[in-house]
Order: sequence, then C-alpha cells, then structure tokens
Amino acid sequence: MKTVFLNGEYIAEDQAQVSVFDRGFLFGDSVYEVIPFYQGVGFRLDEHLQRLAYSLEAIQIVADYDWSAILTRLVDLNGGGNLSVYLQISRGSAGRRSHIYDANMIPTVFACCNPIKDIYDAGPDSIAGVRAMVTDDLRWGRCDIKSTGLLPNILVMQQAKQAGVQEGLMMRDGLLTEGASCNVMLVEKGVIYTPRGGAEILGGTTRELIRELAANNGIVMQEADIDYARLLAADEVWLSSSTRAVVPVIEIDGQPVADGKKGPLWAQMFELFTRYQNDLMNG
Ligand code: PDD
Repeated sequence: MKTVFLNGEYIAEDQAQVSVFDRGFLFGDSVYEVIPFYQGVGFRLDEHLQRLAYSLEAIQIVADYDWSAILTRLVDLNGGGNLSVYLQISRGSAGRRSHIYDANMIPTVFACCNPIKDIYDAGPDSIAGVRAMVTDDLRWGRCDIKSTGLLPNILVMQQAKQAGVQEGLMMRDGLLTEGASCNVMLVEKGVIYTPRGGAEILGGTTRELIRELAANNGIVMQEADIDYARLLAADEVWLSSSTRAVVPVIEIDGQPVADGKKGPLWAQMFELFTRYQNDLMNG
C-alpha cells in the first residue's frame, strides 16, 4: 500500500479523505507540481518549488510548509528510488459551495508518488519518437499558473489518443503554444526555437534546463513565434517535461518531421541531459 501525504500526515492511500466541499473538487481552485525524484533525490526541486510559490501567490493561497522535507520523506516512505511526486494544494473547504472564498481558509495539501522511468540509465536508443497532432488551444488566459483545471488539456490528450498519436500540440491565434502536458522546441539549422514565454504557456522547469544546457554548450536557443508551416518544416521537434525529460517528435499530423527519425541535436541534448543528471546524482 502506498503512503500519501494529506494535511500534515503520512497515511495509507486508502485512508486519505477530502471533503466533498473541497474547492479543488468543486471548482479546480487548486495548483499543483509534478516533481521527479531519482535515487530518492529531487530533480530541479528548487525550480519546482519556485514555480509552486509563483502559482500559489498568483491565486492567493498561503501555504507555508517545508516542501523539500515533506516530499523527500514521502519518497522515502514509498521506497525511494525513481518516483515522480504529485503535489496539489487547493484553497480548502468551507463546508458549502460558494464562488466567493474567505481569505483565511486552510488549504488542503495532498501529495502522492508514482513510478517514473529512469530514461537516463536506459539511454537514447530506448526513447521512442513521438507522433503528435496539432489542435486548438482552448485554455484560459493564465496558462503560466500550474492550475489543476486541466479540462482542455485532457480533451486534447483524449483526441490525440483517439487519433492514434501520443501528444497534442496546441495553437492559439495561429501560433504554437505548447503540448497538452509539455513544452515544445523545434530546431532549424542547428538553432533551437521555442514559443515565447508569458501567460499563454507554462514556464517549464525542463525547458529552462534545456535553455541552460544549450547556453553552456554553445548551442543557440531563442524564443520565437512559430506558426503551423514553420512547425511542419522544422529539422527537429522536441517535447520537454519533468516526467519525459526531452523526447523527439517524428511525425506531426501524419507528416514526418524531416526524415521522420530522431534528430542529431536531440541526441546531443539528451546526452547533455544525461550527464547533468548523473553529475547531480553522484555529487
Ligand atoms: N506537466 N506545459 C504543460 C501544459 C505541462 O502540463 C507541463 C508538465 C509542462 C512542462 O513543465 P515541466 O518541465 O516543469 O514538467 C509544460 C506535468 C508533467 C503534468 O501535468 O503531469
């Protein structure tokens, strides 16, 4: 039986209970993080916690916890190793449904662990190229907040599944924003381009790491406006997220990306990623 964290307690998952009036349940009035732990150690934990603080501040929830200690303990209690931690903080429950909330509500804090594949040990050959489709971005105007209100993302992922592909790439006003659960990068003549940061996309911790690794290794990475034609004409397209690191896209809307194989700059970035992670794990 897995152990979860709920409002200050570490308990068996089947003992965890939340009020039906919890605003996370009723309104999606909650924010979250997904944080990978490798060999029991949080990966880019500070960056995730900074984004969590940003999301909480943006929706005015005050939750002062020692997140690092709590999540590390939770991972330990679940056997350590390679796990991703899901952390959700909702505004709490007022015992009734009302749009208006009281500023002094006590937030509901929930965290659980899920197994995560250690792609770093597995190596680049084990990473399958992803097939994707382009869809409309039907989300709200504050996608920089990591809100649990993921209905548009879920519908996109389901649409992708029904179409037999693994990811939906969303476009708003003719420009690429991000994937349903990841950021997007493309490569043109050795330069990496990624959609502009702002309220339309989530500031991905993995995207920031890719930016850092590129800068430290003489690879140019820039933000740009990317339309459909540009996306389909790219030499390479990548997806990034905490659970998948960086993966190549080999097909979009049934068209191969370049020659339909995993690209060379992706292989280099994957290698840089692997080395970064190994250095971190081995101190
Ligand atoms: N999702 N954009 C969206 C819409 C996402 O949901 C995610 C991550 C990202 C990448 O962010 P990061 O690199 O910090 O994981 C970008 C997580 C994994 C999820 O919802 O499960």
